[in-house]
Amino acid sequence: MTSKNKSSDISTPDFVQEFKHKLNEPLHQNTKQKERHTKRGKLLVHDRINMLVDAQTPFIELSALAAYNQYKNSFPSAGIITGIGVIQGRESMIIANDATTKGGTYVKETIKKHLRAQEIAEQNNLACVYLVDSGGIFLPEQANVFPDKDDFGRIFYNQARLSAKGIPQISIVMGSCTAGGAYIPAMSDETIIVKNQGTIFLGGPPLVKAATGEEVTAEELGGGKLHTSESGVADHLADDDHHAIEICRTIFKSLPVPKKETHVKEEARPTLYAPHDIYKEIPVAGSHQKDVRGLIKHLTDQGEFNEFKPDYGATLVTGFACINGFTVGILANNGILFSESAQKGAHFIQLCNNRKLPMVFLQNITGFMVGKEYEKKGIAKDGAKMVNALANTKVPFFTIMIGGSYGAGNYAMGGRAFGPRLLFTWPNSSISVMGPQQAADVLSTVKKDQAKATGSSISDEELQAMRKQTIEEFEKEASPYYATSRIWDDGIIDPADTRTILSLALSVAQNKSNESSSYGIFRM
Ligand code: COA
Repeated sequence: MTSKNKSSDISTPDFVQEFKHKLNEPLHQNTKQKERHTKRGKLLVHDRINMLVDAQTPFIELSALAAYNQYKNSFPSAGIITGIGVIQGRESMIIANDATTKGGTYVKETIKKHLRAQEIAEQNNLACVYLVDSGGIFLPEQANVFPDKDDFGRIFYNQARLSAKGIPQISIVMGSCTAGGAYIPAMSDETIIVKNQGTIFLGGPPLVKAATGEEVTAEELGGGKLHTSESGVADHLADDDHHAIEICRTIFKSLPVPKKETHVKEEARPTLYAPHDIYKEIPVAGSHQKDVRGLIKHLTDQGEFNEFKPDYGATLVTGFACINGFTVGILANNGILFSESAQKGAHFIQLCNNRKLPMVFLQNITGFMVGKEYEKKGIAKDGAKMVNALANTKVPFFTIMIGGSYGAGNYAMGGRAFGPRLLFTWPNSSISVMGPQQAADVLSTVKKDQAKATGSSISDEELQAMRKQTIEEFEKEASPYYATSRIWDDGIIDPADTRTILSLALSVAQNKSNESSSYGIFRM
């Protein structure tokens, strides 16, 4: 996908190395549980996925650092691996429990990741394969994961709705599938279960004993033989993990492959640069703003970029380009958003919708311009136009947070609330309502005004302590690791992989045809 290039010796920035280190950490955890798991004849979760997908095809793993630095780091990847892979030539969503992480049980982030994967599957018409090996809800966290709308039950609701839309739902039961978890295979279109290993039941043996006094083994209560020959809860009996995966791949042979949307796909042409050359274009906080056009050249075929309105609203760069043959509209920040940049953004978003072209947002934004002059000119209504155009967008769009993501700029530039098909961040990025210093300034002013209004006083020491605390909290919470841990994005990526990931994402989005957009009222 990348190319003949003017190769370079640009070194990997520290923050990229730190990211790679963190990414590999989870693989080294749970060593004892992994040994126990494989001794039982079971494959590890990544091996299961590798066997399931077609050889030599990429797997886009999502939110690999979910739950990072939470739960004393006892839920690496939130205990579930999700991602897009190719099975028998069909792009599919794979959702796989990691039984070596607290028995594959679900905490808040596990559910969030599972639901997000189903959402991506729905938006892109991706068949879903559930590799089930889970003890259900992690009981100490039950109040945070059981009862609300986007909690455990939503998984099964989604399965029914996805199936109704003709999006295949296939389960392979490779371990435990207890209580609510039993609904994952039960709600699937086709279910495979591994003999003497997979179990499906609403209440396990201890619960049955407590409830009715009946003594029964897990295999008798919900094993593969019972479910494939008597209860009918599962359809195919597999000898082991390998066999189960083989059966699943055979099922995929009977699934129709979606007809892909053919929006202006040119022949893919390489970039002009080596992937790592992009490192020199990464925006660095606090230093001179780099012209984002330099970065765009690293992402597009032959570095070509057909710019739209280059001299108007210049702090937002807009234009058309090809990424691995897919024609896209690119919107990238080159400074604070002013009224003109927001109007240009709204116009460009409408153009892309009109032409049914996917969009790529390169987000590095401190926000919209503030101040009397700008308010008087109506920056709020111009920002609203861009936000309105984006909110009613029907074409797929993808957001990469390449630097800062602050304030309403986050929304206008394809933030999470506006439904990008996929949103990835770079390890140098930061996200918060405003920068730490600004937040400390705002709070200091509020506190001083408050004291003045009530006739009390606030000492310099108190103000300094408050500022220090605010800055520390904002810095901690603005970290991309804090964000990805809570699944505010679909994962942190190495900037050098951005073009490859965008190419795959654009291909995946073509599984569903784009609708045309209609717009609400724009405030003029
Ligand atoms: N809630 C909280 N913790 C759970 C759990 C649950 N539902 N299920 C398993 N765990 C924890 C165990 O306490 C253990 O924790 P540790 O590593 O800190 O010691 C870890 O997960 C592994 O469990 P273990 O039983 O040793 O593993 P296993 O591979 O032999 O069995 C299960 C896994 C899931 C089959 C088994 O633990 C089980 O039956 N759990 C209860 C399932 C259940 O009834 N769920 C209902 C909730 S909806």
